[in-house]
Amino acid sequence: MHVKIGRNDPCWCGSMKKYKNCHQSFDEKIEELRSQGHIVPDHSLIKTPEQIAGIKESAKINIAVLDEVASKIKEGMTTEEIDKIVYDTTTKMGGIPAPLNYEGFPKSVCTSINEEVCHGIPSPKVVLKDGDIINVDVSTIYKGYYSDSSRMFCIGNVSDEKRKLVQVVKECVELGLEQVKPWGFLGDMSQAVYDHAVANGYQVVRNIGGHGVGLEFHEDPWVGYIYKKGTQMVMAPGMMFTIEPMVNMGTHKISVDKKNGWTVYTNDKKPSAQWEIQVLVTEDGHEVIAY
Ligand code: MF3
Ligand code: CO
Repeated sequence: MHVKIGRNDPCWCGSMKKYKNCHQSFDEKIEELRSQGHIVPDHSLIKTPEQIAGIKESAKINIAVLDEVASKIKEGMTTEEIDKIVYDTTTKMGGIPAPLNYEGFPKSVCTSINEEVCHGIPSPKVVLKDGDIINVDVSTIYKGYYSDSSRMFCIGNVSDEKRKLVQVVKECVELGLEQVKPWGFLGDMSQAVYDHAVANGYQVVRNIGGHGVGLEFHEDPWVGYIYKKGTQMVMAPGMMFTIEPMVNMGTHKISVDKKNGWTVYTNDKKPSAQWEIQVLVTEDGHEVIAY
């Protein structure tokens, strides 16, 4: 069903402005792109200024938690201790760690080391060793708003080969981010990520990707990194999603741990790295919400 809004009616976005002075031209643009066969976001994916303000408060906690991990992480620490830092810092600031009990996930954060691609489960048995690379993926709920970002950490003397993987994946995210602007396509971002990874001899994980985020942990659209420029969903102002490519030194092929049902590994046991940022599409480009 589609109820046409009058030009002088209040806009659907909740701004209290008249439709003609708010999202009318936005809707016309969306309809034009839809009629050209493009995938377009529906209104539920467009955040209001009030929602954006709330999500930014959540992201402040997420960033502070990662900063706290960054200041404490070191050789000899267990991933259980990282989990405790995340839980304590998040709850002290009034937030809830989003992973905890999410679809049965048992801990407050994902910690994925070396050949672990993502969704590593913190454990008192896993000790950080000299030469490890680890992704710490933090997600926060604050007053119902969600934030999500992850960083890589190099523990002690990391080989040049692994250090380069970590650095290149960071560059992939930065190059993808440069492509985020209104009325472009998610594929523009995706191709920038993919091309840089492949140019460095790496492979990009195919069937795990990013996602819309803000009002829920995982919203539409699904965000992959193997797509071409000019394809996938149109990026419209007010959309918010993650850029979080998983890049493998060897094969892109992965498997899920049969025992715990969560941890994802590379099939060839070669290292994998991931960085994640949460980004908002603005009227004239983008804004990084969490990193
Ligand atoms: N933080 C992950 C993401 O980037 C989601 C992890 S789900 C969990 O989407 F349950 F494993 F935490
Ligand atoms: Co995410």
